[in-house]
Amino acid sequence: ARLVVLASGNGSNFQAIIDACESGRLDAEVVLLVVNRPGAYALERARTHGIPSRLIDHTTYPDREAFDAELAAVIDEARPDWIIMAGFMRILTDGFVDRFQGRLINIHPSLLPKYPGMNTHARALEAGDLKHGATVHFVTPTVDAGPPIVQGRLEILDNDDVESLKQRIHGVEHRLYPLAIDWLVKGKIDFERAEKQSRPAVV
Ligand code: GRF
Repeated sequence: ARLVVLASGNGSNFQAIIDACESGRLDAEVVLLVVNRPGAYALERARTHGIPSRLIDHTTYPDREAFDAELAAVIDEARPDWIIMAGFMRILTDGFVDRFQGRLINIHPSLLPKYPGMNTHARALEAGDLKHGATVHFVTPTVDAGPPIVQGRLEILDNDDVESLKQRIHGVEHRLYPLAIDWLVKGKIDFERAEKQSRPAVV
């Protein structure tokens, strides 16, 4: 399967996907990385692994529509089966999301529907939650609200703080994302089935 990955920063999830592809655990290939920030370390990872990359700097576009139009054109050119958001810190227009709905997925560091948006680790700690995790979901126009595919969980420990949780959640994400993509590639889940299931799978 052909994957296009969208990232804005470090790209450790992108790295986990690259590793899964290279080891053969995932029958897929990242055909293009797109970033929206010039300094994104994900670019370096792409270079190291010989993966083509494109920078589409959102600050050089007049509005979201113009940025999303360019992003959509670049994605289409790469003919992906799946478009994988891995720490892509941009809100996408409804038009963009509609165009790719069913092929566009994201990973979010909480057990959705809990804590959409930012600062998920601090919010889970403040609420006194005993469990926390990450969710891979299909993207729909409402941010972090699309049909969930799979969740990875961990227990919050007495001495956890935002930093320790963030680190352990990253560990969860790095096994969760390649697994979710494997299910998509193998046709074990799709948008309609994800919409119908009352709860996502937990691994
Ligand atoms: C991850 O925690 C992901 O859930 C969130 O952004 C973070 C990206 O981390 N959407 P990285 O760039 O993959 O290291």
